[in-house]
Amino acid sequence: MRLRYLSAGESHGPALVGILEGMPAGLALSADYIRRELARRRLGCGRSARQAFETDQADLLCGVRLGRTLGSPIAVRIANADQSGEDGPAVTVPRPGHADLAGARKYGFTDLRDVMERASARETAARTALGAVAKRFLEECGICVASRVLSIGGASDRSPLPCPVARLNARADAQPARASDPAAARRMAAAVVRADRAGDTLGGIFEVWADGLPPGLGSYAHWDHRLDGRLSGALMALQGIKAVAVGLGFEAALLPGSAALDPYAWRKGRVRTLGNRSGGIDGGMSTGEPLRLRAAMKPLSSLARPLPSVDLATGRAAPAPTPRADVCAVPAAAVIGEALVALVLADALLEKTGGDSMREILPRLKALRR
Ligand SMILES: Cc1cc2nc3c(=O)[nH]c(=O)nc-3n(C[C@H](O)[C@H](O)[C@H](O)COP(=O)(O)O)c2cc1C
Repeated sequence: MRLRYLSAGESHGPALVGILEGMPAGLALSADYIRRELARRRLGCGRSARQAFETDQADLLCGVRLGRTLGSPIAVRIANADQSGEDGPAVTVPRPGHADLAGARKYGFTDLRDVMERASARETAARTALGAVAKRFLEECGICVASRVLSIGGASDRSPLPCPVARLNARADAQPARASDPAAARRMAAAVVRADRAGDTLGGIFEVWADGLPPGLGSYAHWDHRLDGRLSGALMALQGIKAVAVGLGFEAALLPGSAALDPYAWRKGRVRTLGNRSGGIDGGMSTGEPLRLRAAMKPLSSLARPLPSVDLATGRAAPAPTPRADVCAVPAAAVIGEALVALVLADALLEKTGGDSMREILPRLKALRR
């Protein structure tokens, strides 16, 4: 492992903080680049009013001098506009589907705010900021990471990737639900409006792509080197994600080998893979074909029309609390998914190339691609 990262901070505390260690020296990096990625995280229909006032003005605190990384740990701070974390009465009714009940049992809390403040997906602003640094590094290495939403509730986009990965984000970011197909995006946005009116929430599926990867990132040699395991672990660690698919994923299990695997052929003096059912990973290593991952997000746990719960202070039945909450966060989760994938890919690329500076790394990468 070459890259390590940590996030700290509570949803309504003073700030979120992220630290990334292992980035090489000499990478051009600005706070504005990170802020642009954080702004993309606020895109999409279904978000709560908080997205309007949290402007996520990330500050680059350490690890960068005169616009270039130093090779030392990079620290980012994102101030919270809403810092009301210590205000308000204790919460004693857990929201089904959230960390509230299991977290209170684990740490012995009686005020569920002690769980909610850290379990909240506001934390993902810190991981998105660190992922932006990884994306900047990959970009310099000729690798782009992008995403789109494939379904929200029952509304889905079954179209194949409509453009090169490098143009996908511009296309998806322009749509309300971050789907690449405008008609599908409208259907998804309408589903969110219906759920909102019904006091309900929706989940969905998003897809993350990476293009330009050299072959041989990750390894079959030991289980924890496998790129598919590392990528799916990172995506599964995003709040609300319940399944991750590499390439065909679950669909591969329903097909015969002849329809689920990618044949090889000799083309222009080298072996080429025909098709990309594997999603760009075989044997735990990148194949050099575009990486394709999908992740399924469950519906959000805070419902305006709340689920039945129990007041832990009295033992009596009580409706779950209804804090200000999103109706759907799949478009945002896709952007965060890009960040998490970028962090794993940057780590695997650094393992492969070695090197402490961009000046050392870029020629080594060029040699790998020959
Ligand atoms: C970007 C993002 C925003 C979210 N916003 C909310 C929200 O406003 N309300 C809510 O109940 N859950 C929200 N969630 C989902 C919860 O964090 C998630 O359902 C909860 O952590 C339980 O999921 P888990 O069992 O996978 O941890 C959000 C998730 C993400 C990724």
